[in-house]
Amino acid sequence: MLEQLDSIYAQALDELSDITTGDALSGWERRYLGKKGEVTQLLRSTGKLPKEERAAFGQRANVIKNELIGAFAGREEAIRQHELATQLEEGALDVTLPGRPVQTGGLHPATQTLREFYAVWAEMGFQVFRSRDVEDDETNFTLLNMPPHHPARDMWDTFYTTTPGVILRTHTSPGQIRAMHELGEDGTQPIRVILPGMCYRYEQISARSEVQFNQVEGLAVGRNIRLTDLKGTIAEFARRMYGEDKRVRFRGSYFPFTEPSMEVDVECILCGGEGCGVCKYTGWLEIAGCGMVHPIVLHNGGYDPTEWSGFAFGMGPERMTMLKHGIQDIRYFWGNDLRFLEQF
Ligand code: PHE
Repeated sequence: MLEQLDSIYAQALDELSDITTGDALSGWERRYLGKKGEVTQLLRSTGKLPKEERAAFGQRANVIKNELIGAFAGREEAIRQHELATQLEEGALDVTLPGRPVQTGGLHPATQTLREFYAVWAEMGFQVFRSRDVEDDETNFTLLNMPPHHPARDMWDTFYTTTPGVILRTHTSPGQIRAMHELGEDGTQPIRVILPGMCYRYEQISARSEVQFNQVEGLAVGRNIRLTDLKGTIAEFARRMYGEDKRVRFRGSYFPFTEPSMEVDVECILCGGEGCGVCKYTGWLEIAGCGMVHPIVLHNGGYDPTEWSGFAFGMGPERMTMLKHGIQDIRYFWGNDLRFLEQF
């Protein structure tokens, strides 16, 4: 019976190698491995053998059965592949059809403006310094020369959290304090950084104000930094960002953490100073608040204000983006409307 088994095995493999269709393959399976198949029946008849031969025969028969099952699966896969290839050749699938277009993402318009800012400031030697969105009241206000109950705190409508003293930053200026402590090495090293990031204000949302928006803060601290350095730096930024011929003007203003404080206007980027709807016929667009870092703030950052000085500025990239593209409503920025976003 062992010999019979081996010859069935050889014959089955031989036949299998000639099979090219699924039907023939099923027939083969039935014939050898099915309930009444030759191998199955031989296995069943193990009991008829003399006791001492049964184990050896049973083992061999099982090995052969498994080999055949494996060979069957291999053949089945080969036939399937072959059928697929023929289908393709015969055109059941037109492989020359153009694919379905993939939706590509894009950079948010605010991100685009931010990146332009980074590039220009990097050229001018300002490194990006990231500071936290969730701030403490002390860094956001007190250390910036606004002790509790200081009336200037009213300039920033604040989101408070349920944890006393923990707020969402209302501007990027608290990053000045953090940068001075992290980079200043106890008030011994100069600093030149920009601090970009999201700010939060408890405002009535309207076409002109949102509860969140980006700011790009700038901070330079050194031994001989003067107001003329601030003016030159901002003017150079405006030229690089908006064109060689652009003039800037500085108007006196007030911030508790700078002294003196100013606001900066650049000649209208749309009408070039002629006067238009965007600049409200003034010819100028406001681009930043700025000033010389207040001695108290320098001190709070670990510097000796009798030896060190610095300037700081804050810009609003969303506003710049709105002016540039004529976007009338700031709510589009975080409204997640693809019809808006896809235009950039
Ligand atoms: N933090 C100010 C604001 O939110 C802007 C500013 C930054 C002004 C740095 C002066 C210096 O409006």
